[in-house]
Amino acid sequence: MGKILVTGGTGFIGSHTCVALINAGYQVVIMDNLCNSKVEAVARIEMITGRHVRFYRTDMRDEEDMRQIFEDNKIDAVIHFAGLKAVGESVEKPLEYYENNISGTLSLLRVMREYHCNVIIFSSSATVYGCNNEAPYVEEMPTSATNPYGYTKVMIEQILRDVCTANPEFTAVALRYFNPIGAHPTALLGELPNGVPQNLIPYLTQTAIGIREKLSVFGDDYDTPDGSCIRDFINVVDLAKAHVIAIRRILEKTQKEKVEVFNIGTGRGVSVLELINGFEKATGVKLNYQIVGRRAGDIEKVWANPDFANQELGWKAVETLEDTLRSAWNWQLKLRERGIQ
Ligand code: NAD
Ligand code: WQD
Repeated sequence: MGKILVTGGTGFIGSHTCVALINAGYQVVIMDNLCNSKVEAVARIEMITGRHVRFYRTDMRDEEDMRQIFEDNKIDAVIHFAGLKAVGESVEKPLEYYENNISGTLSLLRVMREYHCNVIIFSSSATVYGCNNEAPYVEEMPTSATNPYGYTKVMIEQILRDVCTANPEFTAVALRYFNPIGAHPTALLGELPNGVPQNLIPYLTQTAIGIREKLSVFGDDYDTPDGSCIRDFINVVDLAKAHVIAIRRILEKTQKEKVEVFNIGTGRGVSVLELINGFEKATGVKLNYQIVGRRAGDIEKVWANPDFANQELGWKAVETLEDTLRSAWNWQLKLRERGIQ
């Protein structure tokens, strides 16, 4: 069916996507420099799928090493997850973020061109809607960013458009994820943040299990029904499936544009307080939390209009929020069993 190179394939979303790809019949080659993930993810993908996976511990900026992957494997398409993703860190270390995410993508694209691999799916983000658009976001809205991380996503989308214009054979899909959460139902894969989590769900589950004392809810004075921010929380398994559909579409050349962009979200806005209530209901675990001041840079309301993905890809988020929150909790419990967190 095709051999797919998955950059960042041991990471949170990449690992779930590898499982979905293998289950759909694709061969998968993973490359990752393990700066934000563990090699055990490869064994876990193999455990879930019962299939062997080839793994390269490689930095995408190292073109010599990248060439070796393309020498060893006839790669039909690339799904490009590799990148640094912490918003706050990107403000403190802009050069590292531009260097890693932008230079890394340029190296990848150069090597792809050398080996006549012309098909790429890119992990973009709702962050490209910046702070001047109003939810629900539609793909045609102007893009911008509020931090270096966000700018790397805006820039890489543009780089892909330019490369596709210059090279008639090149095609790309950018999937703009909203807030990916949850874990694989087997609890063998999930999110494993380094240090103190910055994102809501890992902080929440670490609080629920006693690693953190209290979850801070950043603001209850927003112009929303309960005063807390609203997000579009998308289950990571649903998200992974969108990649399988996109890869099929692009490999079968049923794309309508050389570069297509899709929102990958549920279309449903859920507030931070609703999420906390939902977690308590789904798991029966009481959460210690307090309302504190707003976090700088937070946007009040973020949710997708996913109509384009629903209609064109035939993709729709199907997992319930309750099951998703339960899966995140089961993953946290498994981490404790394994003595990791
Ligand atoms: P993750 O950190 O778990 O996965 C990214 C992987 O890329 C990691 O395994 C890391 O080791 C690897 N990596 C980083 N730099 C590399 C390099 N130079 N060479 C090789 N490997 C490298 O993150 P994730 O949540 O799975 O995100 C995957 C992609 O989706 C990222 O591009 C991210 O920006 C994007 N995204 C994530 C979210 C989110 O909230 N998780 C939302 C929107 C978009
Ligand atoms: C969600 C909500 C917080 C932590 C980030 C990136 C975005 C995308 C997804 C990659 C907000 C609140 C959080 C906490 C809280 N990533 N919160 N207490 O900021 O929506 O998006 O991840 O592309 O680009 O910016 O996600 O999980 O940090 O926050 O109250 O301890 O939870 O204020 O309203 P965010 P998040």
